[in-house]
Amino acid sequence: MKQVCSLILAAGKGTRMNSERAKVLHPLLGRPLIRFPVEACRDAGVGRVVCVVGHQAEQVRDALPGADLAFALQAEQHGTGHAALCAREALQGFAGTALILCGDVPLLRSETLTRLAAQHAATGAAVTVLSMRPADPSGYGRLVHDGVGNLRGIVEHRDCSPEELRIDEVNTGTYAVELPWLWEALARVGNANSQGEYYLTDVVAAAAAAGRAASLVLEDPEEVMGINSRTHLAAAAAVLRRRINRAWMEAGVTLEDPDTTWIEPGVALEPDASVGPNCRLEGSTRVAAGARLDQGVVATDSVIGAGAHIKPYCVLAEAEVGPDTQVGPFAHLRPGTEMLRGSRVGNFVEMKKTTLGVGSKANHLSYLGDTLVGDGANIGAGTITCNYDGANKHRTVIGDGAFIGSNASLVAPVTIGAEATVAAGSTVTQDVPDAALGVARAKQRNLDGWAARRPRKKK
Ligand code: UD1
Ligand code: CA
Repeated sequence: MKQVCSLILAAGKGTRMNSERAKVLHPLLGRPLIRFPVEACRDAGVGRVVCVVGHQAEQVRDALPGADLAFALQAEQHGTGHAALCAREALQGFAGTALILCGDVPLLRSETLTRLAAQHAATGAAVTVLSMRPADPSGYGRLVHDGVGNLRGIVEHRDCSPEELRIDEVNTGTYAVELPWLWEALARVGNANSQGEYYLTDVVAAAAAAGRAASLVLEDPEEVMGINSRTHLAAAAAVLRRRINRAWMEAGVTLEDPDTTWIEPGVALEPDASVGPNCRLEGSTRVAAGARLDQGVVATDSVIGAGAHIKPYCVLAEAEVGPDTQVGPFAHLRPGTEMLRGSRVGNFVEMKKTTLGVGSKANHLSYLGDTLVGDGANIGAGTITCNYDGANKHRTVIGDGAFIGSNASLVAPVTIGAEATVAAGSTVTQDVPDAALGVARAKQRNLDGWAARRPRKKK
């Protein structure tokens, strides 16, 4: 098998995005566009990837981690041929096949790249163009063949004659090309065309002259949809979302309403997990078998354990929810939240850097921050940990089996012992020992006959 590298052209600005941000940095399901072709190359087993960058080159570099990546700078954009030539130094000495892709084509499958490389190797062509027959070929370069069906070259839409405009096979902008042959061919490409640019497509005619140009027709034009506008971006997101959702359903995950479910590419779900309408699972979120997410759950970089039940409209970020837990409705689990097996939080509970022990409950209206709650504890309605003094955060520790009465304020740093009770309405500023009752509230007085002395409005 020949060596395969790849070259991703991503120096263009993307004027039609109307954005301060380079086009390839716009996110598609949470990832910058440029990552998609890079990942497709990796998935296809390409060992060496060179990205040609120009606009916001530094930011594009930063968006692409990986030791297998190299970057080439195209400071001024003089066309796709010029862009490819900019990678010459980065690929110095490389002999083999280069897969050339566009940075703004995110839906291309690795299987397609594998097929393109395989056909290219089998025919011995110098260039194999991945082509397609879209319903509307306008705007694309046309593949021109001779009378006996041999590919002769590519003519850009704006350079086409009226007859050429009728050709329905067009260039997707994806190619397999021989190196170092490409460098010699590009060196001979001129810019005598309507845009005064150096066209990569002109190397096809050079290969054809040696009888070494071929094409592979892609059946599904959706795969090579290029992103030129925000409308395209949304359309590509819809395609990608459908693809991802279909794959999860085939893997045994229930999606109650896949049309409104957003699952980012880095998310993983186990069979028999169930996801309700309007959920959004982001980043590296993991959902275990039998977990159930009701409507409107948004989970980012979170772990949801087996059999957990996340009720409607919960928001989780960097939170870990253990097996058989119950969350929500309307709970907010912020970074560093850890709910152990069988624990429960109810409506309007917010947690941050807090561990809720096995079987412990905080069922209503609470804020728990920088807190360690032991096993089997009960956090009453309205309990608030006062973890911030305006300068520093302080920890609260609540022991196993503790009972915190409703509307308690626990002023950290403070420790409530195991099996201790805090009286409802207490503002706790001192530790409560194990098994003790802590009461920290004003004593109640009743004034008998007060009704007669109560000031009243004159009639
Ligand atoms: C190109 C093809 C056309 C094909 C179409 C498919 C050429 C001359 N034409 O046209 O046959 O049908 O793609 O979408 O190649 N880029 C650079 N530097 C440059 C110019 C472009 O890096 O100087 C990058 C862009 O960022 C983009 C890609 O190359 O990712 C394609 O460039 P674009 O200008 O969109 O090419 P098209 O005119 O669409
Ligand atoms: Ca384009």
